[in-house]
Amino acid sequence: MFATFHHHPPKNRGQNWCELDLTAFQAVQKCLDEFRPDVIIHTAANSNLDECEKNPQAAEKINVAATEFLAQAAEALGARFIFVSSDMVFDGKTGFYAESDPVSPLAVYGKNKTDAEN
Ligand SMILES: NC(=O)c1ccc[n+]([C@@H]2O[C@H](COP(=O)([O-])OP(=O)(O)OC[C@H]3O[C@@H](n4cnc5c(N)ncnc54)[C@H](OP(=O)(O)O)[C@@H]3O)[C@@H](O)[C@H]2O)c1
Repeated sequence: MFATFHHHPPKNRGQNWCELDLTAFQAVQKCLDEFRPDVIIHTAANSNLDECEKNPQAAEKINVAATEFLAQAAEALGARFIFVSSDMVFDGKTGFYAESDPVSPLAVYGKNKTDAEN
């Protein structure tokens, strides 16, 4: 197993952790080429709603572009890709949504997650 962090290294990290900015696609590709994972679990995001509204371009880069890059890299590797979306893809008017319900995001973050799902 191999894991990455960006700004905040985990406490008691072992040798299988490395610092990686997932928007630095060349470095991400180098890492994937080296480790050739069978499964990629992508949990990184900018999930701070205010930050996403203030800097939508940066939010799009990590929330959408990095996800797309990883999904395509996983396909090229033949690896399973697991992505974490958000209930913010819905507008919250009704609640108790099913995954199959139509999306209707209101905020940049929810729109990013919708684009990343697509
Ligand atoms: N928490 C919730 O209630 C909730 C609900 C629905 C969906 N989600 C989704 O579940 C996932 C995990 O949520 P969470 O609450 O654990 O989020 P979080 O605490 O905000 O953690 C996000 C992680 O993404 C990393 N990250 C951000 N930008 C990065 C970059 N450019 N390169 C590499 N890593 C980067 C951060 O690393 P550093 O800290 O090292 O910078 C951070 O550890 C996210 O996709 C989120 O959208 C969360």
